[in-house]
Amino acid sequence: MAGSGGGGAPAAAAALAVTLLLVCPLSGAIQGSSTSHALCRAGANAGGLCEQLLLPLGYPCTEHIVETGDGFLLSLQHVPHGKNGLADNTGPPVFLQHGLFQGGDTWFINSAEQSLGYILADNGFDVWIGNVRGTRWSKGHSTLSVHDKLFWDWSWQELAEYDLMAMLSYVYTVTQSKIIYLGHSQGTIMGLAAFTMPEIAKMISSAALLCPISYLDHVSATFVLRAVGIHLDQMLLTMGIHQLNFRSDLGVQILDSLCDDGHLDCNNMLSSITGENCCFNASRIDYYLEYEPHPSSTKNLHHLFQMIRKGTFARYDYGLWGNLRRYGRLQPPPFDLRSIPESLPMWMAYGGLDALADVTDVHRTIKELRSMPETLYIGEYGHIDFVMSVKAKDDVYVDLMRFLRANGWHSSY
Ligand SMILES: *[C@@H]1O[C@H](CO)[C@@H](O)[C@H](O)[C@H]1NC(C)=O
Repeated sequence: MAGSGGGGAPAAAAALAVTLLLVCPLSGAIQGSSTSHALCRAGANAGGLCEQLLLPLGYPCTEHIVETGDGFLLSLQHVPHGKNGLADNTGPPVFLQHGLFQGGDTWFINSAEQSLGYILADNGFDVWIGNVRGTRWSKGHSTLSVHDKLFWDWSWQELAEYDLMAMLSYVYTVTQSKIIYLGHSQGTIMGLAAFTMPEIAKMISSAALLCPISYLDHVSATFVLRAVGIHLDQMLLTMGIHQLNFRSDLGVQILDSLCDDGHLDCNNMLSSITGENCCFNASRIDYYLEYEPHPSSTKNLHHLFQMIRKGTFARYDYGLWGNLRRYGRLQPPPFDLRSIPESLPMWMAYGGLDALADVTDVHRTIKELRSMPETLYIGEYGHIDFVMSVKAKDDVYVDLMRFLRANGWHSSY
C-alpha cells in the first residue's frame, strides 16, 4: 500500500473512488454503465483537438469529458481505428499521457507517418488521448475558473491521483479492458506514481515509458539549473503567480530575464530547457508553437524543483507543519517504486542526450523496480526526440510496437 501513514494517498484514493462523474456540456449521449459512473461522449467539440488535428487528416476522433474527484473537467480524445480501419477492428486500448507544457496534440504534431498517435491507430490500437488540467484542452472546472488561485493549486501528484484516476477509469469502464499506458516525461512521473496505487495498477496491462522519470537530481539542462538556482519557483509563489504560462507576457519576460543575465545562452531555447535533440524538425517550429507550450501550475514547477533539490520521488513537500497536518508526518511520503506490481510488463526508452531524464536517474529508477523493464537506449536522442524526431518511427516506435504486441494485445478485465 503506497504511503502507509501518509494521509494523502488513502484520502485521495477515497475521494477518487467516490466521484468519477462525467458530464456532457454539449449534446452528448448519456449511457448507463455497470458501475455507478455515468458516462458520456461530448458532442462535436468545436475547436477541440479532434477538429483541429485529426479529423482534417481523415482519422476518426471523438471528444469526451471526464470530471476528476476534485472538480476538474478534462478532455479526452478517442481514436478508435486508423484512417483505413474498420469501425470494429480494434486492438486493445492504449492511453497516451503527454509531458509538462505539452498536451494531447504532442502525439499528432508531426506528419501522420511520423507521429506516434497516428501510427498506433493505423496499427489497430484503440487510442485514447489524455489532457491534464490546465492545458489548452482541459481548462474547465465544476466551480472554479482559470482566474482563481485555487484552479492552479496542484502538482503532478494531483495529476497522478486525480487526473489519471478519472481518465483511466473512464477508458477502463467504456472499453471493458485493461489499458496499455504510454507516457512521455511528466507523463511517466504521473504513471510511475499512479502504478504504486493498487486501484490504478489494476487497470493497466502494460506500460511503455518514453524518457522515464522518477528521480530528477541529475538534471543537466542549463535553463532548468539556472531557474532552480535563483529559486524561480519560490519567487513566483511569493509574487502570487500561480499559473505558469510561457505564452503570457509575464512568461516571456521571465524567459528573457533568465536568458539575458549573461549566465545562459538561450539562442536555442529548446536545448536550454531539454538538452540537445538530434532529429527535431526546426522548420516546423512555427507550427509547433501554434499548440505548445501549454500552461502548467507554479506549484507543479515547485514540486519538480523539490525533486531536483532533494533527489526524492515523493509527494509535495508542504514544509514540516504542513506535512504534519496533511500527511501526519514531517516529511512527505515517498512514492515507493517497489510497490509497483512485479507482474506489470514495462518498456522504457531513453536517450544519451536527454538533459531532463538523465541516464543516471533512469538507471536508479530501473534498479528500484521489482521487475526488470525492457529498455531501448538511443545515445544520440534527446528529450523531445522521443515524441518529435522525424525518424522516431524507425528508431523507437518499431520496437515499441513489438513490445505492445507481445504484452497487452489480449487482455480483458
Ligand atoms: C520538416 O518540416 C517541414 C515543414 O512542415 C516539412 O515540409 C518537411 O517535410 C519536414 N521534414 C521531415 C524530414 O519530416
